[in-house]
Amino acid sequence: MKKIIIDPVTRIEGHLRVEVMVDDTGTVQEAYASGQLFRGIETILKNRDPRDAGLMAGRICGVCTNSHFRAAVSCVEDAYALEVPKNAEIIRELIALALFIQDHVVHFYHLQSLDFVDVTKALEADPAQTVQAAQHYSDDPFRNSEAHYEDVQKKLQTFVNAGKLGPFSNAYWGHSAYRLSPEENLILLSHYLDALKFQTSISKAIAIFGGKTPHPQSIVVGGITSVMDILNPARVNDYLFIIKEAKEFIDRAYLPDMKLLVNAYRDEIKEGTGRANGNFISVNSFAFSGGTLFESGVIFGHDLNNVKPFDPKKISEYVDRAWYEENDPQTPYYTDLNKDGSLKTENTQDKYSWIKAPRYQNQPMECGPLARILISYTKKNKHVKPYVDRFLNESNLELIDLSTTVGRNAARAIETQYIAEYLFKFISDLLQNLTYYDTETWGKYDFEALPETAKGQAFFEVPRGLLSHFINIEDQKIANYSVIAPTTWNASPKNNDGQRGAYEEALIGIKIADTDNPLEALRVIRSFDPCLACAVHVINAKEKKLNRYKIT
Ligand code: NI
Repeated sequence: MKKIIIDPVTRIEGHLRVEVMVDDTGTVQEAYASGQLFRGIETILKNRDPRDAGLMAGRICGVCTNSHFRAAVSCVEDAYALEVPKNAEIIRELIALALFIQDHVVHFYHLQSLDFVDVTKALEADPAQTVQAAQHYSDDPFRNSEAHYEDVQKKLQTFVNAGKLGPFSNAYWGHSAYRLSPEENLILLSHYLDALKFQTSISKAIAIFGGKTPHPQSIVVGGITSVMDILNPARVNDYLFIIKEAKEFIDRAYLPDMKLLVNAYRDEIKEGTGRANGNFISVNSFAFSGGTLFESGVIFGHDLNNVKPFDPKKISEYVDRAWYEENDPQTPYYTDLNKDGSLKTENTQDKYSWIKAPRYQNQPMECGPLARILISYTKKNKHVKPYVDRFLNESNLELIDLSTTVGRNAARAIETQYIAEYLFKFISDLLQNLTYYDTETWGKYDFEALPETAKGQAFFEVPRGLLSHFINIEDQKIANYSVIAPTTWNASPKNNDGQRGAYEEALIGIKIADTDNPLEALRVIRSFDPCLACAVHVINAKEKKLNRYKIT
């Protein structure tokens, strides 16, 4: 057995370390995912005014800013049973959904795609043949002209001539796991560059109603503050225009690229490469006048005909293998590394991550786009069904095939297309509400008259999966705050029963051709879209106060 240490895992958010044990054939036999940075946002929130929870919780992450901001505000509203006007709810959804689109496109092109695209090979492509290759996957491919592809090659040649590859340096170029033809590499490289522009324009859409991004600031307890923007038809139009443009890229580049990838890695998909434990979790979210975008439910062991109801009471958290004191999980308890610099994992009780282990009915779960698509589809959500069916038909896949490394990316792309289309329903709900019902954006309340003591919770689907926030208010101050983020679920370490978290399980059986360049393992990890800053949270067991600090 040989140990491979990947630290840090790059092209993700935050500090992740992965260690895998491979046998003589290079096949992964055991895996450990480790969150490498302790955080304590819960401690900062303590003793604060609950109305400030949103702005502070938003700082949990630099990527998922709006997700925590909104969840924290909703958590406080839940605690005080405050009603939020319809307009405010819709605006919150519009900010959140634009963030989904931004996050997913950035994830695929700028974080994941270079695990499949050998940029250096794109120089060998013939532009005329590239035009034809793109037509295999779309009737009307995005910016599909010889002149454009020649331009992209010229840009790349400039990097090469300068003796370095600029943003494309330090990768595993030439690795045997890269399978795309030069032309296919050029198509994806071209979209990589287009997606940089996409990223700026979709950020503007988030900022129209969010005030700014990252860290939107237009949500307040009881409603929203971007009143003049929603009442101004020009601002609503600006938002619509950006979404329409985004749809062009999603339909003509992102989805076709996913079909291209499926085609190139079909054998790996059929072998189940990158499949985790098959336990999935999601909550009902994004309600509009015609239904909801995503259904709530729980699937165990890929039993796709048997979706169980989601019950938050079945969630528990463990720190057996995480760097916290066993009987006082608010207290960090760091144990050192081995002499060779590797994680201490030899004994079944060794601790190796700052991420605690959330479990549902004592099972490790996977959340995210794949979970949402599987659960909403099998629960016969009539809105999502045509999007999933079309992709599966056009790429000749079955539903189970999505539970793989490439499939996880495909599920994310399907979801992006679905959201970009349904955003228009939310806009029309907003316009109808403003025209026929009311223009209210904030529900008035008297803070002094609210209860001294209250408890609240919020469950949301956010780009990377299920996000839960919990608050305990005493003397009108935050006594306790607790978060379980999507990556807390997916990157969780083992528990004392030895069950692996989703990242770890997905790595088992992966074949690594070159143990010095473990590209195959990185692909699997990145397919989950890790966000490590979000993932590390101290646990609020027994609702004890977070007041003790000790790093050994
Ligand atoms: Ni995050």
